[in-house]
Amino acid sequence: MTDWERIRKDFPALERKINGRPIVYLDSACMSLKPRPVIDAMNEYYLRFPACGGRSIHTLGKEVSEAYSEARRKMARFINAAHEEECIWTRNATEALNIVARSLRVPKGSKIITTSLEHHSGSLPFVEKARREGLKLEVVPARSDGTFDIEQWKAAIDSQTSLVSIVHSSNVTGTVAPLREIVEIAHDRGALVVSDDAQYAPHHPLDVQFFDVDFSALSIHKMCGPSGMGLLYGKLDLLKEMDMFLTGGDTVADVRYENGKIIPEYLPPPEKFEAGLQNYAGAIGSGAAADYLMSIGMHEIERHERKLLSRALKALQEMDHIRILGTDDIDLKTGLVTFTIDTVTSAHDIATFLNDEFAVMVRSGAHCAHPFHYQEGILPAKGTARASFYLYNNDTDVDIFIEGLTALIAASV
Ligand SMILES: Cc1ncc(COP(=O)(O)O)c(C=O)c1O
Repeated sequence: MTDWERIRKDFPALERKINGRPIVYLDSACMSLKPRPVIDAMNEYYLRFPACGGRSIHTLGKEVSEAYSEARRKMARFINAAHEEECIWTRNATEALNIVARSLRVPKGSKIITTSLEHHSGSLPFVEKARREGLKLEVVPARSDGTFDIEQWKAAIDSQTSLVSIVHSSNVTGTVAPLREIVEIAHDRGALVVSDDAQYAPHHPLDVQFFDVDFSALSIHKMCGPSGMGLLYGKLDLLKEMDMFLTGGDTVADVRYENGKIIPEYLPPPEKFEAGLQNYAGAIGSGAAADYLMSIGMHEIERHERKLLSRALKALQEMDHIRILGTDDIDLKTGLVTFTIDTVTSAHDIATFLNDEFAVMVRSGAHCAHPFHYQEGILPAKGTARASFYLYNNDTDVDIFIEGLTALIAASV
């Protein structure tokens, strides 16, 4: 049995009080808090071997190279990649998705498919790719509850389709897409799939081989890792074939100078996609985050969050004036709930009240997912508020959140 109260103690930020109240952090879908092992791993880099990996052969350099490679192996284990070379460090999930959009060659005149539920980072890189390369872009609309009709996918993915970009778990509705079925349909028809796992990977066991995705983008700062860290997973053969993204130092085995010409000989993945001196502390901290989550167990974390979500949804459903976006079927959902209050016009007013009066931190706005907010008639007039749960939240957090909302609604009617 996991001792969740002990786990809370791993997160120093939870020791803080604001206006005399312990903080209730419900914004992990944006940025998770950081546990001590992650902070310690990064500090160890800065305190003991703050040198450059890959190039320097002195002792500190070797220690960096070893720790950097070990961190990649940990991430490969975390997502069950077949080869550690399939894991590329990026600054965030957005950069990972942009690498796919920029560097993957697709046939002229082919079609890319995305959905109305995407985070902008899962749609815009492909909107731009389609514009640049004269490709067709088709949008599969999510249902109002954030789920997908598999028949729509069967109809949309045809032999012209080269690529599907889909959010595995939505940062707005929390709904989990039927990824495996979609990948199967896509592969049957010769298309590749890039899965936006920014919200899935922190909260569920992600096995890239099980889902058989061609690419996956992770946001490591949402999974207890350092700020400014993400990961691109790609099948090795595809990564080898792809164009360069950023070029320069560290991407080459050799650069010859012959007859006035500069001729690069690029390295294979992952170095091919990791140009320049890297965020070594970030990568080492990311490996520590993967270890930390694996030591607790992703199934355990998923179960814990579902209990919290179920408690929150039950209370919200009993309240007047609340509209919940997306399904309330917790088996289809990651641990977050997005909502509006019909007596409060601005979502920022919800977030401000909860923060100032109850030290409850939720996110407000349109969560970089404007198309779905338009689809649901929420934009342009209004935004939504989102409470997201993680392994360090407990029942008391949920109850204080509900207490805050009850007080806000009472004050607003
Ligand atoms: C579903 C989803 N995709 C992509 C992103 C972008 O992640 P990052 O900030 O790591 O680029 C986010 C961030 O909130 C997200 O929720």
